[in-house]
Amino acid sequence: MKVDGRHFRSIWLEPDGWSVGAIDQRRLPHEFVIASLTSAEEAADAIQTMLVRGAPLIGATAAYGMALAMHADPSDVALDRAYKLLIATRPTAINLKWALDEMAAVLRPLAPSVRREAAYKRAAEIADEDVGINQAIGSHGLEVIEAIAAKKAGGTINILTHCNAGWLATVDWGTATAPIYRAHDMGLSVHVWVDETRPRNQGASLTAWELGHHGVPHTIIPDNTGGHLMQHGMVDLAIVGTDRVAANGDVCNKIGTYLKALAARDNSVPFYVALPSPTIDFSINDGREIPIEQRAASEVTHMSGRTADGRIEMVRVVPEGSPIANYGFDVTPARLVTGLITERGVVRPDHAALASAFPERTGRR
Ligand code: MRU
Repeated sequence: MKVDGRHFRSIWLEPDGWSVGAIDQRRLPHEFVIASLTSAEEAADAIQTMLVRGAPLIGATAAYGMALAMHADPSDVALDRAYKLLIATRPTAINLKWALDEMAAVLRPLAPSVRREAAYKRAAEIADEDVGINQAIGSHGLEVIEAIAAKKAGGTINILTHCNAGWLATVDWGTATAPIYRAHDMGLSVHVWVDETRPRNQGASLTAWELGHHGVPHTIIPDNTGGHLMQHGMVDLAIVGTDRVAANGDVCNKIGTYLKALAARDNSVPFYVALPSPTIDFSINDGREIPIEQRAASEVTHMSGRTADGRIEMVRVVPEGSPIANYGFDVTPARLVTGLITERGVVRPDHAALASAFPERTGRR
């Protein structure tokens, strides 16, 4: 997508042919800074510190991390070390394991002398595939929005989203945002309610930044506002992303998603989840088995922001000494999900429908 008129992806191979560029998402929305990743260690650190984040982008970064490892040393030992280092970075988004397994499947059978080239090729393919998948999600999701638009006869379509499942969370286009960008670009009147998404504020910092740069009308709301808006007919549909979908259609996503799905059900608001197929984990039958990341207390105790004189500062917002719980994700049961918007169409959130749409993935672990 465009940033001040220039096209960017969230991650790319630099013109030197080996180092990797990425947008440093920790600095947004206040500063647009590009980071250079030059080793598997730096790629792992980028994922862990959330310089990059979002399930599909975590996968693409891990793939490039493997390529960087092969650039430095294409031996079996280095390959195994890089896999172990990268897989340990974050536990919930399954795209990380998917991408690393894809890389390992290509690289392990090869002689070390040809691994470097093969690694960069597969990493680039994984990034390009993500862009193609998200474009297809955009087309299928657009049909959902158009159906609602037809009923509103030209009225603005109000869409609620949680966290950032936009182009910054993927390689380009986003998952939840792809249908929104498509609808906006073709002239439909859309407006997005952006959940701020405490504690790290991915909605307020990233989704709002993205939508603003693309000219999509939006309003940032505190996380606990969605239910009120739904009760008053101010939300036509919700579209969120996901970090892992279990075989039964349960959806794991950023903490707070479940509460939005409950409110949507209580108010008959359609609740859609947009996802690329690498986010489906057929090895897990029930969403309650998905590992939920617990993150640092400092994300809750402190907030960062820009002061009036332009400095970026961290401030404490809770009393000293109060214990903190910081669960990164929750699971929305399939029964609360209206449909899964995938690259192969809108799929019912259950095992039979997922397996029929993605039969080639059912045997994978
Ligand atoms: O902790 P994050 O910022 O990596 O969490 C991101 C999300 O929960 C996204 O909604 C999800 O990864 C889908 S991204 C297309």
